[in-house]
Amino acid sequence: MSASPLDLKEVRADFPILRESIHGKRLAYLDNAATTQKPTSVMAEMDLYYVHSNANVHRAVHELAARATKSYEAARERIAQWINAPRDSIVFTRGTTESINLVARAYLQPILQPGDEVLVTTMEHHSNIVPWQLVGAKTVAAPINDAGELDIDAWRAMLNPRTKLVAVCHVSNALGTVNPIAEMISEAHARGIPVLIDDAQGIAHLRMDVAALDADFYAASAHKFYGPTGFGFLYAKREHLEAMTPLQGGGDMIDTVSFDGSTWNEVPYKFEAGTPDMAGAIGAATALEYLDSIGLDAIATHEHALLEYATPKMQAIKGLKLIGTAANKSGILSFVMDGAHPHDIGSILDQAGVAIRTGHHCTMPLMQRLCVPATARASLGLYNGTDDIDQLIDGLNMVNRLLG
Ligand code: ALA
Repeated sequence: MSASPLDLKEVRADFPILRESIHGKRLAYLDNAATTQKPTSVMAEMDLYYVHSNANVHRAVHELAARATKSYEAARERIAQWINAPRDSIVFTRGTTESINLVARAYLQPILQPGDEVLVTTMEHHSNIVPWQLVGAKTVAAPINDAGELDIDAWRAMLNPRTKLVAVCHVSNALGTVNPIAEMISEAHARGIPVLIDDAQGIAHLRMDVAALDADFYAASAHKFYGPTGFGFLYAKREHLEAMTPLQGGGDMIDTVSFDGSTWNEVPYKFEAGTPDMAGAIGAATALEYLDSIGLDAIATHEHALLEYATPKMQAIKGLKLIGTAANKSGILSFVMDGAHPHDIGSILDQAGVAIRTGHHCTMPLMQRLCVPATARASLGLYNGTDDIDQLIDGLNMVNRLLG
């Protein structure tokens, strides 16, 4: 592997969990697509919030309430900057899943006519399929090739007057495929169709500019970018947010309330009923600070080099087949092995200190398309190095010795 732009020793010192011993072995954490580990700065800022600033936001005039509100809104500003969006177009949610469900319920459902379609792709996560089905949309999926790349010509041909929305992942969680979202947005817009980008798997790896892309909706989760679980956000164009009705009623989302009816607060607050996750917002913003301190471009270069280091080594393992070999790919290595069920691969690797995910990865239609019930998946993060890959390869050779 060419020299990494990251100082891995320094980076790893920021993640105390990486020092855990697993079954007596060093931990090789390769399950970053499921969730990333958290740097000390994120945990410390969340702790500091509870120690020095905890109070409810937007409600009281006392000093702690002012501190909490200031930090919470500063977090919105930080997150907005990260994707080059205006701060009042960022709605805080529990994560990508809730963000997509919000678009399905508050944007799509009110305008949906019988027979209307949402055009997705075969590689979508369940959270970019089921919310559309729940509101009664016909969910049609554009095909992929055997390498796991979108068939863009077929996708284009599927756009039609019934297509109410295009919804697509930037990066496939199961394959690592990076989709041509800029081209897709411009093609959909040429036909007057809005586009939602699910960036759960891209935000920690690839730079994002929703303004340059002209995305209509964009969803992400903090826990995928080294922030806390249970916190995420939806970006939507102001015109969409204004047109959408609130999904949840309660405190903070109203302007006036009477028994005859209520009126809504301005965006984004009309979508944030109840006491929000202040510490989550602060943790998410701190995680972005952390990524900035290292540099997203350096992270992308490092992870790409690691992917290139790992790919031929894995392909050289007897009976192993990589699932997902797109030309434009992020740091995900999904695979199957002759004679070994993915769950058994996962268990043997666990004994070797290697954490990966096994199963259908919440992409059952994709597994059906690829004719596999499940895969084993190693997914890279900024703290991974060639030592983690070597430990994975040793573990896979062990799988072959035990089961092959
Ligand atoms: N969607 C997450 C994954 O791919 C949980 O593992």
